[in-house]
Amino acid sequence: MGRDIVSLVALFAVALAIDPMWTLTALVGVPLLVTPMMLVQRYIRRKMRQNRQIASLRTTRIDEVIHGINAVKLNRMEDYQSERFGRIVDLIRKGQIKMAAMGAVIPALVDIITGLGFVGVLALGGTEVTEGTRSIGDFMSFFTAIALAFQPLRRLGGLAGTWQTAAASLERIYEILDMRPAIVSGARIEPPASTEIELRDVRLAYDGHPVLQGLSFTAEAGKTTALVGPSGAGKSTVFNLLTRMVDPASGQVLLGGLPVSDYALPVLRDQFSTVSQDAALFDETLRENILLGQVAEEAAVRRAISAAHVVDFVDVLPQGLDTPAGPRGSALSGGQRQRIAIARAILRDAPILLLDEATSALDAASERLVQQALDTLSAGRTTLVIAHRLSTIRQADKIVVIEAGRVVEEGTHDQLMEKGGAYAALVRLQFGK
Ligand SMILES: Nc1ncnc2c1ncn2[C@@H]1O[C@H](COP(=O)(O)OP(=O)(O)OP(=O)(O)O)[C@@H](O)[C@H]1O
Ligand SMILES: [Mg+2]
Repeated sequence: MGRDIVSLVALFAVALAIDPMWTLTALVGVPLLVTPMMLVQRYIRRKMRQNRQIASLRTTRIDEVIHGINAVKLNRMEDYQSERFGRIVDLIRKGQIKMAAMGAVIPALVDIITGLGFVGVLALGGTEVTEGTRSIGDFMSFFTAIALAFQPLRRLGGLAGTWQTAAASLERIYEILDMRPAIVSGARIEPPASTEIELRDVRLAYDGHPVLQGLSFTAEAGKTTALVGPSGAGKSTVFNLLTRMVDPASGQVLLGGLPVSDYALPVLRDQFSTVSQDAALFDETLRENILLGQVAEEAAVRRAISAAHVVDFVDVLPQGLDTPAGPRGSALSGGQRQRIAIARAILRDAPILLLDEATSALDAASERLVQQALDTLSAGRTTLVIAHRLSTIRQADKIVVIEAGRVVEEGTHDQLMEKGGAYAALVRLQFGK
């Protein structure tokens, strides 16, 4: 741009010095370029913005298909997925072609307008030279200057399209850079005074669809509280509220008497050991998957993996704990992944334990063993447990029954059974007792 602009200024200065009238004639058509150029620029920018959005959809599709490759094969979705993907690629290709075509309009217009300018100069200057009012030398110098200006002008015209493409891409980059996180860390760096948990009239909706509708309960410090209820009732959501994966629309989530949003996020999250429904494993060794960046003594690691019965499958591996877990832990079975998650929680040794179907992927024998380890871990520790198995729930100090985002009953197993309400019905229905 710099070089072309300097060339243009110098060349037009020369042209003006030779003959202002000729220069004017050569340039008379240039204002005609302004409107089409603006229109084309706007068009390219809009198209580019659309294209970028479609391209992000393409990335999502690739990600889905690659991670769900087994589901694609098992359900024989190959053609369906190819077609779905093909449609997106097609849209992108058409968009690119339209943009390229529109981008070529500007240099073409520059060619036409400057061409017409040349004709004008030839006519005007030619007449003056034949009439003898100007010398042929002047005319040739002028013509050379204008001819030399032609290429830089053309290049600058072409740049307008490139500029718009880049601007549209930049817009999307800045959209992301300017995003503010929905969860803002609190300022309090002192850990909570106690581990008592209380939810007060908590409401939460996803896209207008209510999930929690005035949920209130307390979980006493040092006690085990079980959350029970049908699938989709909002049990896992309670855990997400406590660890601030999501904030409530209204109501309060209190830890040690203060709103969880008061605490700095690292301080808050350090209070919890979580074993969730979907343990995320990383493409690292088993040891690193258990340590998760912490430093721990070998003896502590051994204790954790024996309690979680990770040893059962690790010790037979030639590389032991240094075996890679594979991408997303794909080298492990579902039950093995769950045991790794439990070993993590044991090693982490946080004041509050959140167990979301922590043993659901284990067979009856391993479950009993792992459950014992979890019982030891939760003894004297504030524990919230979500489980569908009666054996886990009935030992809880308190059972909170959640239905459609509200607490419908609470009490001990015996109290609730005696009451013969929702819990008793659930037990009969789910556990056949
Ligand atoms: N990120 C999300 N976006 C939209 N809806 C969500 C999201 N997370 C949860 N939900 C919805 O919130 C409701 C409660 O979900 P939650 O995971 O708390 O259920 P749950 O009680 O743990 O069920 P389950 O026993 O099946 O694990 C569900 O209807 C679910 O569809
Ligand atoms: Mg759940």
